[in-house]
Amino acid sequence: MSHLRFLTAGESHGKSLTVIIEGLPSNLPFNFELLNLRLAQRQEGYGRGGRMKIEKDTAEITSGVRNGKTLGSPVAIIIKNNDWENWSEIMSEFPFEIQPGKITVPRPGHADMTGVQKYNFSDIRNSIERSSARETAARTAAGTVAEMLLNFFNIKLFSFVESIGGIYSDYEFYAKLLTSKNEPAITLLEQLQALADQSELKMPDTEQTFTIIEKIKNIKKAGDTLGGSVITAAVNLPPGLGSFVHFDRKLDAAIASSIMSVNAVKSVTIGGGDYGSTLTGSNFHDEIILENSRYLRNTNMAGGIEGGISTGMPVLVRSIMKPISTLMMPLKSIDLKNNSEIEARRERSDFVAVPAYSVIARAALSFTLAQFFLDKFSGDSMEEIGDNFSNFNSKIFSRIQENFGG
Ligand SMILES: Cc1cc2nc3c(=O)[nH]c(=O)nc-3n(C[C@H](O)[C@H](O)[C@H](O)COP(=O)(O)O)c2cc1C
Repeated sequence: MSHLRFLTAGESHGKSLTVIIEGLPSNLPFNFELLNLRLAQRQEGYGRGGRMKIEKDTAEITSGVRNGKTLGSPVAIIIKNNDWENWSEIMSEFPFEIQPGKITVPRPGHADMTGVQKYNFSDIRNSIERSSARETAARTAAGTVAEMLLNFFNIKLFSFVESIGGIYSDYEFYAKLLTSKNEPAITLLEQLQALADQSELKMPDTEQTFTIIEKIKNIKKAGDTLGGSVITAAVNLPPGLGSFVHFDRKLDAAIASSIMSVNAVKSVTIGGGDYGSTLTGSNFHDEIILENSRYLRNTNMAGGIEGGISTGMPVLVRSIMKPISTLMMPLKSIDLKNNSEIEARRERSDFVAVPAYSVIARAALSFTLAQFFLDKFSGDSMEEIGDNFSNFNSKIFSRIQENFGG
């Protein structure tokens, strides 16, 4: 498997987030603008709480990049937490002289209770800090560097909101993407992304945006929260990424894992998988066609992956983020200091974070695809990888003719 991997460190209200990306080739042109754009986009979206007004995430590259290009050594990125100033006592690494407000009431749906049980903590704050989605800023940075690598080979990534609180985009675009050929799907994805990038909800829809914003306002007034669904896609991938030879080399399984690992994501579907329980085989599967010396599919219910291997069609992923767990109208919980029934703790929180999640989902998909891309076309420099990539691509059709031709 590819050596590309990343590690993140950082607590939600700590000094900073750190990400180290290892296994990148040398000579990847580093797109600083794209990195800061994705970090800024992760902070946007209607329905977020007060924290995102404090943080203005920017990436400080501390190693692995020189003269605008990667060196092949680990790339380290730091994202400072501006809010740290307000938390320096609570988050101090040194022993407390006086224990700052200990948290004893866990929130349902968060990692408060499970973290305390697992790590033997005496303050729920210790669970909250690392389980918070603040970590996804670091993950977005790692995924965006992977996106740069994919972009270099003309592989493009897309991600936008499909629904919030059960209200779907009017365009019903997912059904169109599943039933489109390769080129029309790419054009549609480009159009949808352009619309989503202008939307406060990162949703390609102007009609429903108003209705959804009204719904979020009402939900917020009621002290409640919402979730939603996101479509994430990659186009211009070669066939042949991933493998059926072993479970951990299957591309669809790896994508599901990286997307599901994002906070609050509870469902991941590749292509039209959700329809697999109702459609017949003849309606579900994609016919194989030959277009410009490429074996493609007439439709894309498979979401660009068959047998754990990319087909060359767009990779399509639909994922669902559950409603935010912190409620201003809280559910019942137990106060751990005396086991009495009590309302769960309120704390500063988002009401809806689906638009932000769409940015994180793109990063998660990018990283996994870059791992599988480097696995197949491995090399130490971008040039070497480029040679391996174009060699495979240029021969893929003629080899089939040699192997099967009369
Ligand atoms: C971008 C983003 C922002 C989030 N913001 C919050 C928040 O403000 N409050 C909250 O309770 N949960 C928030 N979450 C969700 C929690 O981090 C998540 O529910 C928690 O870590 C428990 O993990 P689980 O839901 O995956 O089981 C957010 C998730 C994402 C992806």
